[in-house]
Amino acid sequence: MSKALQAVRGMNDLLPDALGYWRRVERTAAGVLRAYGYREIRLPVVERTELFARSIGAHTDIVEKEMYTFEDRNGDRLTLRPEGTAGCVRAGIENGLLHNQIQRWWYAGPMFRHERPQKGRYRQFHQIGVEAFGMAGPEVDAEQILMSARLFAELGVDGLRLEINSLGTPEARAAYRTRLVEYLRRRFDALDDDSRRRLETNPLRVLDSKNPAMAAVIAEAPSLLDHLDAESRAHFEKLQELLRTAGVAFTVNPRLVRGLDYYTRTVFEWLTDRLGAQSAVCAGGRYDGLVELLGGRPTPAVGFAIGLERLVELLRQGAASADDDAPQVYVAPGEGAAERALALAEALRARGCSVECHFGGSLKSQLKRADRSGARFAVLLESDGRIAVKDLRGGEGQQSFAYDDALNYLAGRLQPRGG
Ligand code: HAM
Repeated sequence: MSKALQAVRGMNDLLPDALGYWRRVERTAAGVLRAYGYREIRLPVVERTELFARSIGAHTDIVEKEMYTFEDRNGDRLTLRPEGTAGCVRAGIENGLLHNQIQRWWYAGPMFRHERPQKGRYRQFHQIGVEAFGMAGPEVDAEQILMSARLFAELGVDGLRLEINSLGTPEARAAYRTRLVEYLRRRFDALDDDSRRRLETNPLRVLDSKNPAMAAVIAEAPSLLDHLDAESRAHFEKLQELLRTAGVAFTVNPRLVRGLDYYTRTVFEWLTDRLGAQSAVCAGGRYDGLVELLGGRPTPAVGFAIGLERLVELLRQGAASADDDAPQVYVAPGEGAAERALALAEALRARGCSVECHFGGSLKSQLKRADRSGARFAVLLESDGRIAVKDLRGGEGQQSFAYDDALNYLAGRLQPRGG
């Protein structure tokens, strides 16, 4: 026997037994997003490398060391998307959907980053993300935060805390960056290697260092919030007021900088203590300059993305139940009644029941499987054309019906399965 192949490190199989939680998240999210007027968009998993280099930023960890980039057969440089925002902006510009328009979009799907895998951090992971275009005020920032809070509440996920910050305009940030670099140069001896490198390329990311030895340097660094331009300050204050009025608890974290360069003004993260080092379950913010940077007309925009592996893990840890995909009816035809079984199963499905049909084996083994399948009813074919219906979960025992009566009985007992 040759050696069995394994999945690529950091890329997971999502097997049927695990998917009940995933479906629950996806179904709940689709409902919540619809309730806020967001419409789904589906985009390619592969884009030109340049799209990500320009939008996420050439000196970010993602672009410098985490992208899956390759040349295709034409020699084009392409990348498996590490996130969804850049593609949404590209698609919006290309299809003429952004200029002077308001759009609220959502997407779900796999993203790819070559990070060091650990609990909650994978190389293929999944996001549900939203992007809103054409609204400059803080109301839509607040609305998105409320939307994420509602999704967590509907899923029964609690214990998340919300941190917000404002990065101001690019000009204000540039002025702050100069101040920060001066400060970090003065403290150069206290910086770790990573921070020394970032000092040259992306000094704001020094504030994001998780190294405890850096904590004091970071705590004493000048605060970005003290360098905000007046308009950004007013924007941020209004956002806080809106959140307070809506009853959403938050803390202002002036060190929250995010790992992607496109943000302006609002940034936010929903954090948990229950997933070890990977604490961000949902993150996003405003990126008013990105549409123009990618060749469109200036268009304000704001969005966020939820890491689904992390959210599903929280659901599993909590009290929430998974969506159930057990069949409602298990047809156990015994030996040699396959045609009748197929016809009966089709008739039941036509009435909205979900049915698993057993082929082969003895009646005894079929009944065992019926029990294990989680089905509510087992259906047996009697020799005189009648149907026996056995209640596997409730207390209704086994009853014998004429064919049509069995169909009516089962259809009446089972709720049709919706989408
Ligand atoms: P991000 O912070 O890079 O933002 O990712 C958003 C979320 O995706 C994270 O908070 C985390 O839950 C999840 N995530 C990221 N990397 C991994 C990984 N390697 N394994 C598992 N989960 C991960 C963005 O991607 C932005 N596009 C969000 C956004 C949308 N901003 C504006 N619009």
